[in-house]
Order: sequence, then structure tokens, then C-alpha cells
Amino acid sequence: MLRNEPSIDFPWWKVRLRAAGRGGGYSPWRGLFESVLRVVYRGDWPARLWSFVPGAHEVVVARYCLDLPAGTGRPLRVAFVSDLHAGPTTPEPVLRAGFEAVRAANPDVLLLGGDYVFLDAEPQRLALIEDLVSSVACPTKLAVLGNHDLWACDPAIANALARGGARVLVNESIRLPEPWSDVAVIGLDDPGTGICDSAGAAAQLDGQPFRIVLCHSPDGLLHLSGERFDVFLAGHTHGGQVAAPWGPVVLPHGALCRQFSAGPATLNGGWICVSRGLGGVEVPVRTFAPPDIVVLELSRKNQLE
Ligand SMILES: [Fe+2]
Repeated sequence: MLRNEPSIDFPWWKVRLRAAGRGGGYSPWRGLFESVLRVVYRGDWPARLWSFVPGAHEVVVARYCLDLPAGTGRPLRVAFVSDLHAGPTTPEPVLRAGFEAVRAANPDVLLLGGDYVFLDAEPQRLALIEDLVSSVACPTKLAVLGNHDLWACDPAIANALARGGARVLVNESIRLPEPWSDVAVIGLDDPGTGICDSAGAAAQLDGQPFRIVLCHSPDGLLHLSGERFDVFLAGHTHGGQVAAPWGPVVLPHGALCRQFSAGPATLNGGWICVSRGLGGVEVPVRTFAPPDIVVLELSRKNQLE
């Protein structure tokens, strides 16, 4: 925890036209819009109202099986959770249900894809994030930050994640502990509002490990600049959040958000999965884009004796 906790208690009646964190791309219009929502959604009543809708708390568990390089040791189970958006447009029971599903999966590694709050990083939202992350017992928890975190108060959010046992990766690479030391997680900064440096992150790696790239947005693929990846995990799109039966109608800003709006895909020999996330932004509604978590079962291709 940082010695000086950043200021996070922004009064609900004030207008804030600038980002409180280090994120770019926060226009005065965005600030005005969020300032209006801060007043209109005071008390988080939209999330509570949405809680009464049948099925609103149901979380889809998307399971996939992938191959690791040949070797020994048991399979690696990874749980990936994104876009919690603690705040007025996300019912807390949805977040509780999502993390209950994570605990039920009993992962070896928990990966977190960013956007932990909507609007402000208020103390009770940070306490909820800390509580949810710490409720997962696995020893390795790694996180990246999203655009809403960089607009809210990224140091305070990073502190809450750290208190929950998660290490925040900002253009950093880390090898997993044995028996998966040939697997690396590369955590990238948000490509839309931060500074995404995949070459710098990959340069920290020795050898040629199996690479899991963790980035808030699918647009991180545009910043790989030739870097090889085996698995790429992102959120940000919410699957359109308020989608039509035939797919997303409106998607967040990002060049690749429509091409990789949700679910698995492949690109340049790598496997991609975009989560719809758990929470919502701007309106407390999801249609045809239910909340999800992702569970990956990575097994050795050829088990060595
Ligand atoms: Fe999001």
C-alpha cells in the first residue's frame, strides 16, 4: 500500500471536467456527462433497480481448453475476469456471483482485465474490489488497468488490487511459478488512454516462453508490433452491453472492438479471447450480452515422463 493514499473522495455535486487519473482521451464533454451521471445516479439506485430483473445476476462461465508446450506437470487453470465496474450501473450481486464462479473453478492463476470502477474510485467501491479479489485463494493474481481506471484514480485502484493480493502489470512481464515457469504473462497498459509498450514488456523476458498477453482492450493487438503471442486476453467491449439478437449495436471506442467484440478468435497463429466482463457502464442494463468470466484449461501437448 502506498504511504500517501491518493485523494479518491470526489464530491457528488461537483463538476469534474478532467480525468482524476493519468488517462488521456478524457474530454470536457466526457467529464460533463460523468458529472451529470454522478448526480442522477446518486445512491447507486440504477444498479439496485436492475437487480430486480430476473436473470440479471446470472454469469456465464466460458470454458476453453488449450495446449501448452510439451513438458511435465499438471495442467494450468487460469480464470480471467474483466470490467467489474463497481458503481451505480453494476449490481453488487453480479460481481459476487462472478467471483463465486471463479472460486468454484479453483484456478491456479487469476487474471484481471481492468475497468474496476465506473465514475469514481470511491472508498466503498475500492473495498468491494479488494474483498472480491482477496476472496480468490490462488497464489498468483495479476491485473492490468483499463480506461475507466486511468480516468478515475489509478493509484488508488492499484492499491486496492494490491491489498487483494493482485500485482498490477503496466507494460511488465512475469513468469509463472513452477511447474509453469515456461509460461509468461505480459501485462500491457491500456492502449486507448495509457501508454502501451509491448516491446518494452516483452524485452523483460528471457528465452521463448509461452506468452499470455493481458490487455484491457482488443486494440492492444495493434500495439504488439510483431511481438509473438500465444494467448491474448481482453475485455472492454462488454459484448456491446445493450446488444441486439444478431450482435452488438454500440461498442466502445477502439479500432478492433467490432472485429473482436466477444468470445474466441485467432490471429497470426495466436488465440484471442474477449470477455464481456461482469459490470456495466452508463446504463445499468445488459441485453443479449450477459456477464461472463473465462476459464482456461491449459494442458501439456505431449506429457513428458
Ligand atoms: Fe469496461
